[in-house]
Amino acid sequence: MTVPASFAPIEWTTGGVRILDQSHLPEREVYLDIRTADAMAEAIRSLRVRGAPLIGIAAAMGLAVAAEDAAEAGMLTPAWFHSAADLLQATRPTAVNLPWALDRMRQRATAAFADRKWGREVSQALRDEAQRIWDIEAGMCVAIGEAGAELITPGSTVLTHCNTGRLATGGLGTALAVISEAHARGMEIDVVVTETRPLRQGARLTAWELAKAGIPARVIVDGAAASLMARGEIDLVITGADRIAANGDVANKIGTYALAVLADAHGIPFYVAAPLSTFDVSLRTGDAIPIEERGPEEIDPAPGVEAYNPAFDVTPASLLAAIVTDRGVLRPPLEAAIAALSS
Ligand code: MRU
Repeated sequence: MTVPASFAPIEWTTGGVRILDQSHLPEREVYLDIRTADAMAEAIRSLRVRGAPLIGIAAAMGLAVAAEDAAEAGMLTPAWFHSAADLLQATRPTAVNLPWALDRMRQRATAAFADRKWGREVSQALRDEAQRIWDIEAGMCVAIGEAGAELITPGSTVLTHCNTGRLATGGLGTALAVISEAHARGMEIDVVVTETRPLRQGARLTAWELAKAGIPARVIVDGAAASLMARGEIDLVITGADRIAANGDVANKIGTYALAVLADAHGIPFYVAAPLSTFDVSLRTGDAIPIEERGPEEIDPAPGVEAYNPAFDVTPASLLAAIVTDRGVLRPPLEAAIAALSS
């Protein structure tokens, strides 16, 4: 039994798509109504809506409502559609859930145009597809939570990084779904959340979600993870992922690789939880995963000194104890397990 959501990170409204603007959390719950591809692109770029699965869902929903207006204005052509989809796809490069969702939308549009559908018929097909993408992602979260909870021993202390809950997925979450499910099963786990510099998704967002769900947790600064592990205060680490290559290398929020190295050095299992939409088997290894670089203002160094701000890193497959997916738990050798998934 999982706790019902007390907030909606995204929803359809009569005026378009409403997102919870995560840039104001935890201080204020501000909602934004979006009706154009430009506005949704801005929201994704500025991390008002964020997290690998949720940016795919948001882009698809934004495209669907923008298409409704284009249909009204008689402008919903293949050229209009693909240029709006290109704009949304260019917002953030690392999470593969974004092109995964937009490719589904492109296929749906192409099929509708090929069937000589036009105007409202096409925009309705796009709305149906966006809802389908959301349903699929939400369904995969449930399965991840159930599979992952099996890995958790009652009473253990679980460390997690960044934000992988409802705010990141539109469903129960990835790593956070595992944590919520373990809590819901009465396992009395202790949750340690890293702050996740520079944008503090752990301290601001994961802590906010866990507090709302009534799951006890402690936030630590990123630099405290090593000493907690050395003192035997962490039993396992679980994070989400933004893109997983065919060999099992995992791109996730900057700092994930450091946690995996630390876990390995201290003999602590390191797990990644991700849905099938996060796997990119077209890339052989993590070296090919594009890593987003964000602006210096997020780090804000003293004047006269530059900032360097890669937002993600790649954890080699060799450091993973397992990947929890909606199709079950994948164990090393991960390359073979991933190949079996997609065959
Ligand atoms: O830059 P963000 O906040 O979109 O980064 C999000 C993450 O890295 C999450 O860990 C991730 O998307 C994994 S699973 C939902």
